[in-house]
Amino acid sequence: MPVIAVIGAQWGDEGKGKVVDLLAEKAGVVVRFSGGDNAGHTIVNHYGEFGLHLVPSGIFYPGVTCIIGNGVAVNPAVLLGEIDQLKQKGVETGNLFVSDRAHLIMPYHTLLDGLEEQGRGGKAIGTTRKGIGPAFADKTARLGIRVGDLLNKEAFLERLRPILEGKNAILTRVYEAEPLDLDEIYHQYCHYGERLAPLVRETTTMLAEALDSNKLVILEGAQGALLDPDFGTYPYTTSSSPLAGGGCLGTGLGPTRIDRVLGIFKAYCTRVGSGPMPTELADATGDFIRERAHEYGTTTGRARRCGWFDGVAARFSSRINGLTNLALTRLDVLDDLPSFKICVGYKVSGETISHFPGSITTLEGCQPVYEELKGWQSPTSDIRDYEKLPAQAKQYVARLEEIVSCPVSIISVGARREQTIHKAPIL
Ligand code: GDP
Ligand code: IMO
Ligand code: MG
Repeated sequence: MPVIAVIGAQWGDEGKGKVVDLLAEKAGVVVRFSGGDNAGHTIVNHYGEFGLHLVPSGIFYPGVTCIIGNGVAVNPAVLLGEIDQLKQKGVETGNLFVSDRAHLIMPYHTLLDGLEEQGRGGKAIGTTRKGIGPAFADKTARLGIRVGDLLNKEAFLERLRPILEGKNAILTRVYEAEPLDLDEIYHQYCHYGERLAPLVRETTTMLAEALDSNKLVILEGAQGALLDPDFGTYPYTTSSSPLAGGGCLGTGLGPTRIDRVLGIFKAYCTRVGSGPMPTELADATGDFIRERAHEYGTTTGRARRCGWFDGVAARFSSRINGLTNLALTRLDVLDDLPSFKICVGYKVSGETISHFPGSITTLEGCQPVYEELKGWQSPTSDIRDYEKLPAQAKQYVARLEEIVSCPVSIISVGARREQTIHKAPIL
């Protein structure tokens, strides 16, 4: 049965939470495959408004199995807090499971994330300070501790002791910070382990069983393609792959199992944190979009940088993800504008280029080449039928399809689940 990967195709916050909540109605399984609680996925449905950081956005359907895959870095305190909050709001969480292979965010990861950022001074990445970089670095360096390790307390202590010794040496000698206490972390994490134990599974078999019984599996991306450590604006990126390919590694599904890759784009661009963003509007129009759309981070509350749709970056994102379908969100945000722009090329060193450069120094020097389109200046939030969109809005959608060479399946015109136009089927 089909597997759909739902991917952030820009710099994150494209509306993945909304789209996954919408599509999950027909799913058997929704699985998160990357990132950690740096993600903030907003969902507005009949239960209320939620900002999910670790729990997959399919949790609102009691019949959907939700899996936190091996590719996610799990802060157990955050996960347990999120489960408690969902339960308080009447959401059933008995269908939530965590891969035994998922790595844990430990107290030294969050501490080091903050200290490393401070050390970067003016070159700070603007991380969420959730310990993501240090946790994925430890995973690669084979210094990680995994969710499954918490299930055997003796083995956990043996693993934690030397790792913490090393971290304390860094904390005290490099950063002149206080060392962390082994006993305290051990007992705290044993407690988390006891609470999480009923959720921990070998999740690749769960996915295989779902596919064998013809259930739809949705891979829920976190972050966005341009934050990918390989293809994003390195080093101003995150530390795990948000791409469709990351969806294989972060769940244990082989690449041939993914049937559709749905790329989510906002009708414009935003970015939180530092790093180049060629179409950024550091002016009144940027401020207008930020306030109109309330572009402030779900995880950190930081103001998001806003700018016009970047067609060069979008084409690149489509290619590295192998997008088969697009979802265009926040179209309603453009409702009041008399005109707006799409970037269709970059001017750099006197040349016009149409590819997204690998070097951030080059990207920083890129000036966007714009096409200007007339706005529709009428409300779209109550429209549910594509044909009823204003002509200029349809023209915009058609132009984006042309630029990205990919059909738009979903258009979102508001934060609520039902504020959606189904333009064409995904499967
Ligand atoms: P995610 O990280 O990709 O899930 O996106 P976020 O939840 O961080 O940010 C998207 C924001 O846009 C949230 O506040 C959503 O409620 C909101 N949103 C999603 N789709 C739409 C839409 O079509 N129109 C408007 N106005 N808001 C939307
Ligand atoms: P969702 O899933 C937007 C950004 C941070 C920072 C960079 C590195 O909600 O789209 P990190 O904490 O990962 O080391 O920070 O990545 N970032 C996000 N930006 N949405 C996200 O997630 C993000 N997750 C990380 O702002 O620039
Ligand atoms: Mg977000």
